[in-house]
Amino acid sequence: MSVKYIPVQWNNNKYIYDAVMLAGVVLFLYVFLYAAPAALNHERAVNPQIHNARAFGACAFVMLTVILCIGPLARLNPRFLPLLYNRRHFGVMTTFVAITHASYVVDWYFAFSSSNKYEAVLFANTSYGQLAGFPFEIFGVFALFVLIILAATSHDFWLKFLSPPVWKRLHYLIYPAYLAVVAHVSLGILQDQQNHSFTVIFIAGAGAVGALHLAAALSERRQDKAQKTRQTDWVDVCTTSEMTDGFAKIKLLANGERVAVYLTDGKLSAISNACAHQNGPLGEGRVIDCLVTCPWHGFQYDVTSGRSPAPFTETVPTYNLRLDGARVLVDPKANPPGTYVEPIAVPNPMKGL
Ligand code: HEM
Ligand code: FES
Repeated sequence: MSVKYIPVQWNNNKYIYDAVMLAGVVLFLYVFLYAAPAALNHERAVNPQIHNARAFGACAFVMLTVILCIGPLARLNPRFLPLLYNRRHFGVMTTFVAITHASYVVDWYFAFSSSNKYEAVLFANTSYGQLAGFPFEIFGVFALFVLIILAATSHDFWLKFLSPPVWKRLHYLIYPAYLAVVAHVSLGILQDQQNHSFTVIFIAGAGAVGALHLAAALSERRQDKAQKTRQTDWVDVCTTSEMTDGFAKIKLLANGERVAVYLTDGKLSAISNACAHQNGPLGEGRVIDCLVTCPWHGFQYDVTSGRSPAPFTETVPTYNLRLDGARVLVDPKANPPGTYVEPIAVPNPMKGL
């Protein structure tokens, strides 16, 4: 059995992203282990094995927190969009850091138990009925299990094999996993802490994830409400003077679809805002030579036809446009994906040329 998939190629941006990420992990571990152990660690003296376990556990938590902040930050402010680009590598690296944490824990606390050390993690403590002394490790086990599944299926092969909706639903498991990590730390580690530096990092991190998701959801709801229109006729997008060459205006249509209307070399074109790869926001990408690049993973589309350049075969729907004086109007009925539409020349475009 084989699946035809299009891998997202390596490029300089990815190398830089990964190098910065790796440097961040090394710096975090160095600070935790050597530069400021007293500030970040528990005050009780610990052996190197547990010291390492804590460093990698705290690092995995911070990485997971940053990953979950990137999505809402990018929705709130386009300046954060480049961070979305390679988020999958971030997730895979987090999984390796979390596995290292768990390995140190298992090799220290459970290595000497009479049964298999992995079974011992599950059965050494079964006091599920009480809060103090709750077997918090079980939440860590669940989170690690999810992280491994997500890392293993992060490749484009699995995206194609499972289909984007199933893949996306599977990857939403990151939220229960994060909640499990929060429970893992709250029920286990914080109760034992003398030093509150990690507690502060923990509460600030988990709080930021919650607050940013709420802010992004509210802002999206406000925008959708403001844009929602009942028209089935041509829909007003904006005036030509509001457009900047190389960029799009995004318009929400009554049927819930978003259309991206581009001004490129003084001509107007419109395609669906949803990328065929994983519904990335095409209207937030920049157009160069008629090609818009999806800000999420770099797929490209010709804005006049909604087609990816050869040898790629992805297509998105296009839309018809017309001008009413300086007003740009879009026909809410989409053309079939890949339909060429002659761009409309803008008389005297005001900006960006
Ligand atoms: C098999 C899975 C796991 C097991 C058995 C486990 C077990 C433990 C144990 C026993 C500790 C306390 C260490 C000590 O201070 O003596 C701990 C701490 C911690 N764990 Fe886990 N864990 C697992 C997975 C995870 C995962 C997946 C994450 C995050 C992504 C995580 C994040 C943390 C954090 C942040 C700490 C606190 C570090 C500190 O004290 O500064 N753990 N874990
Ligand atoms: S390239 Fe992945 S969503 Fe557009």
